[in-house]
Amino acid sequence: MSELVLEIKNLSLSFDTQGASASILKNVELHIGPGEIVGLVGESGSGKSVTALAISKLLPTQITKFSSGSIVFNGIDILASSETEVAKLRGKRIGFVFQEPMTALNPTMTIGKQLFHVIRRHSELTKTEALAKVRTALEEVLISKPEVVENQYPFQLSGGMRQRVVIAMAMAANPTLLIADEPTTALDVTVQAEILNLIAKLAKDHGTAVLLISHDLGVIANSCSRVTVLYAGEVVESGIVSEVLRKPQHPYTQALIKSLPDIADRDSLLETIAGEFPDLRNRPEGCIYAPRCPKKFEACEVRPMLRIAKDLHSVACWAVETTEK
Ligand SMILES: Nc1ncnc2c1ncn2[C@@H]1O[C@H](COP(=O)(O)OP(=O)(O)OP(=O)(O)O)[C@@H](O)[C@H]1O
Ligand SMILES: [Mg+2]
Repeated sequence: MSELVLEIKNLSLSFDTQGASASILKNVELHIGPGEIVGLVGESGSGKSVTALAISKLLPTQITKFSSGSIVFNGIDILASSETEVAKLRGKRIGFVFQEPMTALNPTMTIGKQLFHVIRRHSELTKTEALAKVRTALEEVLISKPEVVENQYPFQLSGGMRQRVVIAMAMAANPTLLIADEPTTALDVTVQAEILNLIAKLAKDHGTAVLLISHDLGVIANSCSRVTVLYAGEVVESGIVSEVLRKPQHPYTQALIKSLPDIADRDSLLETIAGEFPDLRNRPEGCIYAPRCPKKFEACEVRPMLRIAKDLHSVACWAVETTEK
């Protein structure tokens, strides 16, 4: 892959507060090409949102300490860029969609007006052109009566409709990268599928790279070409979705899949993952998953690096046979 939209390499960061330091991300690797939808999955607290926020430098500067690695967006070294430079990318080159659409919308302003402001902010369009764009932007996210919705306030719309509006706002400037952090978690299942299909359609039509964050492997399975599995801020497995989900190599990914009714083998019992999430203030030196891992052996006292396994995906596990990277 020659031109990557996003390339995160060896990213480690901690949150340092009042003498205590919590290691939140450790050696994270992730890349996305144009038009590609890449999933980032992991249980609550695994660092998915922190990764998303790091990409556009939205983490609290007072406490965030980057200790290794780089984030390169469209050839721009984000960590080396100033706040002014990164601020120019946000909303324009990097769009965001979060879990709760209401927080992204202004409750006191009509949908049309909000979209109009976003379009004007990120483009050189005249007032008349921007007004016309409001209509087409709503049509593009498949809102059936844009002329009505334009004049409505957020509270008058359903959750799914609101999320469509947020997606329209995020896509208004035709960003190169869309970061969707749990975009469907607050929605019911049928609406979830519609929103995911919409994101996939827009990514295809515009060649937008998408980072789709979810704690739900079902969501990832249906929308992404590749997936990265995060556990306690470390990438444990990464590769083409069908490979990772059908032949998961890492014991953590295997446990995640077993806990999912849709993907799990019908005959196998649902399992919850035994053991506790590690204390990030005291990150273990060996394999991060070892304390919960049924396959743990002596080698796991040393931290495994991500290496290419036989089915062409990367796995950080000593119990998995790998070809050298
Ligand atoms: N502003 C903050 N200050 C201190 N710690 C934080 C802050 N934001 C996140 N964390 C910690 O960073 C870790 C990763 O959190 P993050 O929000 O990225 O998880 P997540 O994978 O997005 O989880 P979820 O699925 O619940 O959204 C957690 O241990 C969390 O407690
Ligand atoms: Mg999150």
